Amino acid sequence: MTKVSGTGATDGLIGLPQPPEVGASALPAGTFAGVSVFVTGAGTGLGKAIAAEFARAGASIVIASRKPEHLDAGRAAIEALGAPVIAVACDIRDAEQIAGAFDAAEAEFGLPGVLVNNAAANFPVPAEDMSANAWRTVVDITLNGTFLCCREFGRRHIATGTPGSIINVGASYAWTGGPGFVHSAAAKAGVKNLTESLAVEWGPYGIQVNSLVPGLFPHEDMTADIRGNLDRTSDKDACQPALRVGQRQELGWAATFLASPYARFISGHTLVVDGANWQRRSMTNPPVVTIREQMGRGPFALDV
Ligand code: HXC
Ligand code: NAP
Repeated sequence: MTKVSGTGATDGLIGLPQPPEVGASALPAGTFAGVSVFVTGAGTGLGKAIAAEFARAGASIVIASRKPEHLDAGRAAIEALGAPVIAVACDIRDAEQIAGAFDAAEAEFGLPGVLVNNAAANFPVPAEDMSANAWRTVVDITLNGTFLCCREFGRRHIATGTPGSIINVGASYAWTGGPGFVHSAAAKAGVKNLTESLAVEWGPYGIQVNSLVPGLFPHEDMTADIRGNLDRTSDKDACQPALRVGQRQELGWAATFLASPYARFISGHTLVVDGANWQRRSMTNPPVVTIREQMGRGPFALDV
């Protein structure tokens, strides 16, 4: 057991143990053999890690996102694992593009058996500074895009009478609110809620719908806005009850379990993978600092 050191108050404490190395699996080899998994935003960060775990477990992978450089990076990562993969340009705000991406997926691998709605949009901004278009953009990608992908997947499975599994990636500020991220927090609350509605509506058709909530999982693909926000916290491990942040394979393992045959009776559930960080609240939190101040912004003034 490695003891944490150099963090003052946490010196000598052990925190939650580190997980097995990347490449290990709790599922039998080939669990997803013959299954195609459609992952939005799988060219970067957590989506790429989730897609990689499905690929290791035998799946063929469909990556859908907007930017060619992300599509290329995702495809290369899956090819390096020796798994079949296609990458399809798709903006999940557009239902027609989603239908086109599913057509391409079906033509290559057959109807995807698993949909992971991982793509999302986010940036820190004080609510009073946010433009109407900024709000719309985040809600449109994170909430509306997730619904439209679910709808496409659901329609195709209901029409063919085949079972399927949906995993919607959420965030814990769906429950707590997310000061500085009011658009994303509201959208993720919607994602949690639509997961619960769809799980009931589509259970009779054999479609599971669950949500997966990552805690803090820093990675090299984080947007400059998110990274800049995170950089304001110097020792991120010491801020977690686990005394460490998440490792990407831990999220991938949770996703592959939820979509596996071993989780067939789990639906409408939200699985939080965050070392209990979101429950870390008390009546004596640190002193209040406004979001403006945290972001180094001056006093708010109405434009005249
Ligand atoms: C204020 C901003 C802004 C910012 C954009 N806008 N960035 N407002 N602060 N930092 C405003 C723009 O001015 C514009 O409004 C509107 O938002 C749309 O911006 P566009 O650049 O035209 O949008 P688009 O090209 O569609 O790009 C979407 C995006 C971009 C969300 C702005 O960042 C993106 O593509 N993000 C995808 C990846 C991502 O967001 N990942 C984060 C997921 S992490 P106006 O009024 O000027 O027209 C996550 C949880 C992390 O969700 C938790 C970590 C702890
Ligand atoms: P990320 O690297 O920024 O990934 C976001 C992905 O979404 C990108 O690959 C992007 O690809 C795609 N995307 C954005 N807008 C899109 C659109 N309109 N159409 C299609 N794809 C779009 O972020 P991440 O950290 O991996 O986050 C992944 C998920 O985890 C998100 O749902 C996020 O909210 C959640 N999450 C992350 C953390 C964390 O600590 N990292 C914590 C809580 C929740 P393109 O740019 O190519 O379109």
